[in-house]
Amino acid sequence: MGHAEPQVAATLQPYWMPFSPNKEFKAEPRMFSRAKGMYFYTPEGKEVIDASAGLFCVAAGHCREEIARAVYEQLQTLDFTAPFLRAHPKAFELAERVTRYTPAGLNRVFFTNSGSEAVDTAMKMALAYHRVKGQAQRQLFVARERAYHGVNMGGVALAGMVNNRRAYGVGLAGVYHMRHTALAENRFAKGQPEHGADLADDLQRFCNLYGGENIAAVFVEPAAGSFGCLPPPMGYLNKLRQICDQHGILLVFDEVITGWGRMGANFGAQAFGVTPDLLTMAKAITNGAQPMGAVAARQDIYDTITEAGPAKGVEFFHGYTYSAHPASCAAGLAMMDIFAKERLIERAAAMSPKFIDAIHALRDCGVVTDVRSVGMMAAVDVAVDGTPGARGHEAQKRLYDAGLNLKSTGDALIIAPPLVMEDKHLDEITTKLRQVLQRL
Ligand SMILES: Cc1ncc(COP(=O)(O)O)c(C=O)c1O
Repeated sequence: MGHAEPQVAATLQPYWMPFSPNKEFKAEPRMFSRAKGMYFYTPEGKEVIDASAGLFCVAAGHCREEIARAVYEQLQTLDFTAPFLRAHPKAFELAERVTRYTPAGLNRVFFTNSGSEAVDTAMKMALAYHRVKGQAQRQLFVARERAYHGVNMGGVALAGMVNNRRAYGVGLAGVYHMRHTALAENRFAKGQPEHGADLADDLQRFCNLYGGENIAAVFVEPAAGSFGCLPPPMGYLNKLRQICDQHGILLVFDEVITGWGRMGANFGAQAFGVTPDLLTMAKAITNGAQPMGAVAARQDIYDTITEAGPAKGVEFFHGYTYSAHPASCAAGLAMMDIFAKERLIERAAAMSPKFIDAIHALRDCGVVTDVRSVGMMAAVDVAVDGTPGARGHEAQKRLYDAGLNLKSTGDALIIAPPLVMEDKHLDEITTKLRQVLQRL
């Protein structure tokens, strides 16, 4: 007699869920079947406030009619065209609209379908750029512990989250990881912490050890998101920029989460006053309504690669069948209108201090061991209970049951609400969080 297996509906079995405990979920599903504004609704009709903007995507709130209409009309007008050798006008229009937000100089935009693809695209851009400049020896990459750069093979090699790497063997060689910036002395810091700029010296150490002239690019999230909100220590990004400049290394900001207002500015680059050479984005570019990612490149990187190519031939051998998909571009353009009309990014900047104070007020819950925050993103760490991550996982389930949706990573609960959040929503989020944290 073994233990009783939980009953799982046969209809739930075929779907292999990503990044999820399949067995547990299928035995005890927690689903959403509808959403509007700040709320999800379960199939039973229960309202659940969305404290994580879906997965950092839904900046303008759920089910925006403008976006739905734009996608519907697009699919009736031009559903698809090959993005290679052919194009459609909205791809050019969206690229131009995106450059109104990217840091000055990063005005060439390559579209992908996800953040993961944007990261691998940026790696290839860095390699191709150095090669045509006669520096093909620049093959090494530097990234950081506790970073998340998506799940494609390049991004996994860059990433510094061990569970995302350990099952896949050696992966890509030639990637070195700087230490992470989660320092005990920065616990409960609001915004950028004071300590840790010197951790950027790890990059200089790699330059000394491997030769700065062999390093193609440094990838960092300006503020780590998926790991659980790690804002950059004061001066840290500036130092990385300086070392990259000294050695001719490209600095890449992975802004898949930090882009589009999440940091209270267009991108983390502007929020922290440091301009990268390449910048990846995804998530809120379409409000999550259509898959899309992008890389914004410095113009001279684009110029160098394209001018080195043949007069009438392909210059950069890279792209996806669904790059700049018409429906994604339509969604993106509708979202650009919403950003402009509703001044979403200014709104995020204005709301941020109140949001940060409200989340930090949870530190008096006994189980809370740290709170980190920047812009409209925060993380609350709960004390490890036996297995690391077990309590965070339990918290995320109990929060759903209490009517609040968020993402947990290990024992960090990540709060990143839609940027349209109002005071009453913030009250609801913190009240529900407090209730659950007090009983954990
Ligand atoms: C910084 C960063 N890079 C890349 C990705 C991967 O994006 P996607 O899941 O769209 O492939 C993510 C996703 O959360 C991310 O946070």
